[in-house]
Amino acid sequence: MEPQSRKINELLEFIACSPTPYHATDQLVTLLENKGFTRLKLSDDWRTPGPGRFFVVNHHSALAAFTLTGDCPDRDGLRIGGAHTDSPCLKLKPDPGQRTKNMEQLGVEVYGGALLATWFGRDLSLAGRVCWQDNGGEIHSGLIDFQRPIGVIPSLAIHLDREANSKKTINKQTDLVPLLTASEDECNFLDILRQQITQQYPKVMVKEIIGHDLFFYDTQKPTLIGLQDDFLTGARMDNLLSCFTLIDALIRAPESRNALVVLNPHEEVGSVSATGAQGPFLSMLLERLQPDNVKRQQMLARSLLISVDNAHGAHPNFMEKYDPLHLPLLNMGPVIKWNANQRYATDTVTGGFFRALCRRAGTEAQDFVMRNDMACGSTIGPLTAAATGIKTVDVGVPSLGMHSIRETVGARDFLLLGDSLQLFFSLDPGDVLWQGHQQ
Ligand code: CO
Repeated sequence: MEPQSRKINELLEFIACSPTPYHATDQLVTLLENKGFTRLKLSDDWRTPGPGRFFVVNHHSALAAFTLTGDCPDRDGLRIGGAHTDSPCLKLKPDPGQRTKNMEQLGVEVYGGALLATWFGRDLSLAGRVCWQDNGGEIHSGLIDFQRPIGVIPSLAIHLDREANSKKTINKQTDLVPLLTASEDECNFLDILRQQITQQYPKVMVKEIIGHDLFFYDTQKPTLIGLQDDFLTGARMDNLLSCFTLIDALIRAPESRNALVVLNPHEEVGSVSATGAQGPFLSMLLERLQPDNVKRQQMLARSLLISVDNAHGAHPNFMEKYDPLHLPLLNMGPVIKWNANQRYATDTVTGGFFRALCRRAGTEAQDFVMRNDMACGSTIGPLTAAATGIKTVDVGVPSLGMHSIRETVGARDFLLLGDSLQLFFSLDPGDVLWQGHQQ
């Protein structure tokens, strides 16, 4: 198999096996362990580890992986990449079971800015983290994934809603409740959960389930499509594509560089949490890497963060939604995101750095700026830059249908982003590009 096809297959497999941020972190931990990275825990006493390759997981969901040369990173700086692990979706309510006549349904909350219309008529499964007590009262938690389709949110027939194609609105409380069964027998949701835990963890004793973080997801797997294998379509391209590409690039870069990747959940809901980009995770890590205050400031002054999150690609049916001179095209290379009001952290030096990096990697970066008459989104770049003072560039592959249950990106852009990030993590301390941004 061609290396490029293999890389695409690895990405699609990773996304398919990562229905929730918990699963994504779990998958990446396995990958890192297989590649010889050593696990460190925040609850242990360690500082300035290295030389070597390490990773840290925070509260089962935020992940940082890094390689350290053993030389002081305060003289070299850190090549840092960041991305978010979460995607908009439907999250189960704490007490979700509801019965209408003979139909059993599960109530959900909308997580993040989901494009809700795309959730109707999909074959949905359920996955996430469950917490339970055993007979001795001890608390355990574990990941579960039903994997098979267990529910659907049926659309209302057009005969019962004649304006569905012109005036459709969606009531988040009443219209989006997934349907699980139609049967005379009532079913108890906690019993179903208990069965699933026992199936996945045959040795555990579940006395009582005491909590769950469970999310519905589309069971249709991500796929390579297009007349010339142009596109990748699937759930969670925003932003598992960036997470995978960063970790893969770090793994493939030489060990003799100071480099770090941080992946946070909760970006889609504002990043304010213990594990989100506005939380203390990265700052705590940086303190462990360099406990001396002044030396740490020197290290950060020489560091650069590439914040990777999907960008808006030009949609051929809606070209009026874009600034006509800033139209990122699919399969034409990674995008640098700019915003005068700091919704993106890019500045002339960091944007220029990324453009030069892409050129050396064999591609040309594209530029995105939102129209002035439309509101601009944001990402972890400005938050991480503000929390740490690290100079930052916001980039990502152009995508269509952002926050849809199936998003579309260019297959070539994914590979080009990978080439650029691998080059970034490989930059020699004396390289003119790496030296250049430090002046
Ligand atoms: Co995103």
